Amino acid sequence: MLNGEYGEARAKALRMIIRVGESLGAEGLVRIRHAHVSGVSYLNIGEPGLKLLEELYNGGGRAAVYTTINPSCIDLTGKSRIIDNSVTGKQFMLNRVLEGMGFTPTYTCIPYLVRRPGVDEHLAWGESNAVVMANSYYGARTNREGGPLALAAALTGYTYYAGLHLPQNRVGRIRVRVGFNPIGEEYSMIGLWIGENVEKIPVVEFPSEPVYYGLKLLFAASAATGSHGLVVVKGVTPRGTYSVEVVDRVELERKELEKYRGEPHGRILAYIGCPHLHPGEVYMLLRMAEKHGRISSKHSFLISIPYIYKSMLRAEAETLRRMGFDVAYGTCPIVSRIRDGYDTVLTNSGKAWFYLQKLHGLNVVLTSVEEMMRYVMEE
Ligand code: F3S
Repeated sequence: MLNGEYGEARAKALRMIIRVGESLGAEGLVRIRHAHVSGVSYLNIGEPGLKLLEELYNGGGRAAVYTTINPSCIDLTGKSRIIDNSVTGKQFMLNRVLEGMGFTPTYTCIPYLVRRPGVDEHLAWGESNAVVMANSYYGARTNREGGPLALAAALTGYTYYAGLHLPQNRVGRIRVRVGFNPIGEEYSMIGLWIGENVEKIPVVEFPSEPVYYGLKLLFAASAATGSHGLVVVKGVTPRGTYSVEVVDRVELERKELEKYRGEPHGRILAYIGCPHLHPGEVYMLLRMAEKHGRISSKHSFLISIPYIYKSMLRAEAETLRRMGFDVAYGTCPIVSRIRDGYDTVLTNSGKAWFYLQKLHGLNVVLTSVEEMMRYVMEE
């Protein structure tokens, strides 16, 4: 492959993996079962990114392994009133290249729902929330890859054998004992807190079993404020995929999370779907919304869901739209631009809370979905 026998694109990609692997002291390469390519928003990578992808495609770059793609910067149905679709042409050019390379057009940040990772399976994933989920919930092995390395792994089927691929690096060192059973957005707050306060791999203990949708928020938030790739959750992370050598212990109580709340004011955008909503979450949202009525004309409620569920969730999306919800497929407000001016964003997502403030300078308030509905819906 290095000699160009499988094309120049693959040789180039493999050289990049080897260079990074050598700098990290990797003992070799490892074959992967699934690559997930991030950094595919035209607004993020711009013309240079598009040119690079076209070059790889023209140089024969094709998927050597099952590969999924992260969200892009446009609503792929074009129906959202909130997501600014002004770069549709460029994003479509980019999407055509990615799909031409043989990547599955998932346009989602929850690739684990498209293909469930196996225990101890080697992956090369480039979306931090998905990386933590793969390692911590499914017991798979992946580092937090940047977009170019995940792409290189997709084209070669290999990645460097270092970091979280090695059992000796999957060691929980800080025991975080959560003193209460979290609900809704509190999972996000715990994740934000862990990202900010715990540097080594945490071993999180809850009084009773945490819920799947809560962990999804927690993992995403911990990867936003911290550099975590693995967050061990006792009773959840598959045994044998990590070890524990505790060097420090911390207790976490509800009162320490209050700082993540805030005060909404003015025109409100309520937003859920960071990470993208699972179909089960869409059904729950619909049931909840039916009790509340319609979105008030003053405010908005945006949800972001994976593009691949377009057909499956058609009826639900239509019902939500009739109630005034805005449904965006294959994107999110963090990797795209939003159209209208809002004074406050309400969200249950710690990751959205972090990035919408940081990148878009918005006033963002973490709260429950129920509370969001109370703010933006009218009986
Ligand atoms: Fe996904 Fe966008 Fe959040 S890509 S994890 S919804 S920032």
